[in-house]
Amino acid sequence: MSAAGTRADDGAATALGAPWSTGVTRDADGTLRVAGVDVHALAAEHGTPAYVLDEADLRARARAYREAFGAAAAAAGTTADVYYAGKAFLSRAVARWVHAEGLGVDTASGGELAVALAAGVPGAHVGLHGNNKSDAELHAALDAGVGRIIVDSLVEVDRLADLVAARRADGRETPAAPVMVRVTTGVHAGGHEFISTAHEDQKFGLSLAAGPDGGDSPALTALLRVVARPELHLLGLHSHIGSQILDSSGFAVAAQKVLALRADLAARTGVVVEEVDLGGGYGIAYLPGEEAIDPVRVADEVVRAVADAARALGTDLPRLSIEPGRAIVGPAGLTLYRVGTVKPVRLDDGRVRTYVSVDGGMSDNIRPALYGAAYHAEVVGRASDAEPVLARVVGKHCESGDIVVHEVQLPGDVRAGDLLAVPATGAYGRSMSSNYNLLTRPPVVAVRDGASRVLVRRETVDDLLALDVSAD
Ligand code: LLP
Repeated sequence: MSAAGTRADDGAATALGAPWSTGVTRDADGTLRVAGVDVHALAAEHGTPAYVLDEADLRARARAYREAFGAAAAAAGTTADVYYAGKAFLSRAVARWVHAEGLGVDTASGGELAVALAAGVPGAHVGLHGNNKSDAELHAALDAGVGRIIVDSLVEVDRLADLVAARRADGRETPAAPVMVRVTTGVHAGGHEFISTAHEDQKFGLSLAAGPDGGDSPALTALLRVVARPELHLLGLHSHIGSQILDSSGFAVAAQKVLALRADLAARTGVVVEEVDLGGGYGIAYLPGEEAIDPVRVADEVVRAVADAARALGTDLPRLSIEPGRAIVGPAGLTLYRVGTVKPVRLDDGRVRTYVSVDGGMSDNIRPALYGAAYHAEVVGRASDAEPVLARVVGKHCESGDIVVHEVQLPGDVRAGDLLAVPATGAYGRSMSSNYNLLTRPPVVAVRDGASRVLVRRETVDDLLALDVSAD
C-alpha cells in the first residue's frame, strides 16, 4: 500500500453523504477525499479515469446486510445467509472482503466462479447462476464443490444430472449436485425493463404459472424432475425479481408465491425444501436526495412475509438467503475523470447546455446509454464560487449517446484539467465496461485509512494488442 495525500488538519473536512460513499469528505479548499486520500493524489498516482472503491464503506454495507437479515431471521426462528452477487463487480480482493464479512459469493459465469475461487472463497460458500451454463462451467462448479447450482431450465436439470452420472461412470467421486430451482413469480420490480427479471416474457427461470399445455407449472415440473434424479440434491427454491428495487413489497409477494410452491411440492412428494433464496435487487441512491432501501426494514418485512406465509400454509420456516450486489458495492465506488474540453451549446429553447467532455465515457459506464440511468457529478479538485450552469457530462467515444451524466449543475467556470467525480458507480460500471473505440479500461483502486492500492490495474494498449494475434 502506498500512502497518498494528507488528512485535512483544520477539521474543515465535511462528509458529503449519499450518494457518495461514507468515507468521502470535502476539504475547505474544495478538494474531495476518499477515506482520507485526496483526489489530486489519486489522479497523480493512478491516472484518470479511475474507479475508486472505499473499502470500509463496502465492508460496512456487506456487514449491514448480513446483520439485518441474520437478526430478522433469528427473531423468526430461522437463519439467513447473504451471498454477494459478483456480477456487480468482482475481483479477488472484493471476494475476500465480503467473505471476511461473513458473506458467500454468487457467481454467474465460469469467469466469476474462477475469481471467487482464486480469492480463496471455499466452493461450499459459492453459488453458480446462469440461464445457459456450459458443460465446462458445470464441471468447474462440481470440481469446486460449490454449495449451490441454481438451475434455470428443464434442459439444465437433465444436463446437470447427466454430467454427474458421467463423472461417476468415469470413476470421479461426485456427490449429488446441490440444486436450487429458479422460479419466476410474475412479480416485476425495479427500474428499467431490462433489469427486471421475474415477469413472464423473458428468459430467466421457470414459471409458476400453468405450463404451456395447461398442466403442472414449469417450476413444479422441474422440482419433480430434480427430486427424481439421484444425482441431484434439491437444496432450495430461488427467486430474483429485479434490480434497483426501492420498495420492499415485491420481495414479500414473491416470497409468498415461492412458499406456496414449496407447500405444493411437499403435498405432492413429502419433500420439504430446506432453503429459499430471494435473490438481489436492493436499490441504492444515485442522486443527492434519493434514499436507498434500508436493509433493516426490508429484512424485517421480507422475513415477516416468509414467516406469515409458512404459518398460513402449515409448513416449517425455510432457511433464507439473499444475493445483493449493487447495494454492497455500488455506493462504495466513484469514478474519477479529468475534464478535457468544455463546449457551450445553445438549445432550441434558448437555454445553453455546457457539454463537459471527460477522458472516459460509455466504455467505463454503459448504464446511462443502456438504461437511461441518472448519475450525479461534481468538480472535485477545487472550490468554485462561479454560478452553476446546466451541464451534460459526456465521454470521448465517437457516438452522441456517449453520455456519463445527462443533466447536472456544474460551476460555470468548469474547465479543462478539472477533476470530476461521479458517485455510486461501484456496481455495474467496471463489470459492464468495454473496449469500445479501443479505449483501455480504467483501474480499480481501493482506498482505506488514508492509503490507496490498485485492485485491478489499468489496461494498456499492449493488452489490447496481445489479444490481436494475427500478424497479417
Ligand atoms: N441475483 C441474481 C440471480 C441476479 O440476476 C442479480 C442481478 C443479482 C442477484 C444482483 O442484483 P443487485 O442486487 O445487484 O440488483 N446491469 C444492471 C443490473 C442487472 C442485474 C442482473 N441481475 C444494471 O446495471 O443496473
